[in-house]
Amino acid sequence: MVGLLSSIAYCERRSDDHKTQEESKMEYWDIEARGLTKAFGSFTAAHNLNLRVPRGTIFGFLGPNGSGKSTTLKMLTGLLTPTEGEALIAGEPVAVENVALKHKIGVLPEDDALFRALTIWEHLEMSGPLYGLGHEEALAMALLHNPRVLFLDEPFEGIDPGSSRNVKDLLLMLSQKGVTIFLTSHILEVVERLVGQYAIIIDGEIVCQQTVEETVKAGRTLEDVYFQFAGRPAMEEMGWLG
Ligand SMILES: Nc1ncnc2c1ncn2[C@@H]1O[C@H](COP(=O)(O)OP(=O)(O)OP(=O)(O)O)[C@@H](O)[C@H]1O
Ligand SMILES: [Mg+2]
Repeated sequence: MVGLLSSIAYCERRSDDHKTQEESKMEYWDIEARGLTKAFGSFTAAHNLNLRVPRGTIFGFLGPNGSGKSTTLKMLTGLLTPTEGEALIAGEPVAVENVALKHKIGVLPEDDALFRALTIWEHLEMSGPLYGLGHEEALAMALLHNPRVLFLDEPFEGIDPGSSRNVKDLLLMLSQKGVTIFLTSHILEVVERLVGQYAIIIDGEIVCQQTVEETVKAGRTLEDVYFQFAGRPAMEEMGWLG
């Protein structure tokens, strides 16, 4: 327990702590969560979440199954109304009826394959507009229709290494063009190389938010930090290994 408490203290040192007030004011947050909370009946899936993602950066949102990642992403994009708190995109409050804001956002929901979108994107790049698109293709196009802020729920899930590489390259390219990207993923090695900053959510609460640079400076890997908070099954519990 002492170990956990001290590690939270370590992790609470936010990336902007060293900046002067003036520098902080000049910084531009493209995604902001202020006290975001979501309760499903008596169960709280997300509790008092505070997040700030600077413009043009890639942000990784990590946590075990059922920890509240998708719930949070849905609140940030207006797909789910928070029980408490608010989300802001480019400084504007997210509301279900805010259509103008929706145009600034691209969303890849859970269980959708980005590589499908990528295939279409590559096709468009090469051959101009496509006609007669189906519903899924239209969705894929909307995703890549020059959104300022892109939300991706597990974009590397269920795709082969080649597609995964293409997705990574695409995200880096978009980020270089100034697009702000928020992604959830269980693949820590990929996240570590892709994102500037990350947060870890456990049982609906953010236990850590810091930059990869800070992690590296502390002589640690993202995996070290993740297991410190999320733990992992003890080897003896994995009796099925034989
Ligand atoms: N509509 C809902 N009604 C009731 N409970 C829900 C609902 N949506 C999500 N939950 C619960 O909220 C918790 C968080 O779910 P969420 O989908 O946000 O987790 P997650 O971190 O995205 O998990 P995974 O890594 O498996 O995708 C889970 O316990 C889930 O069962
Ligand atoms: Mg999820």
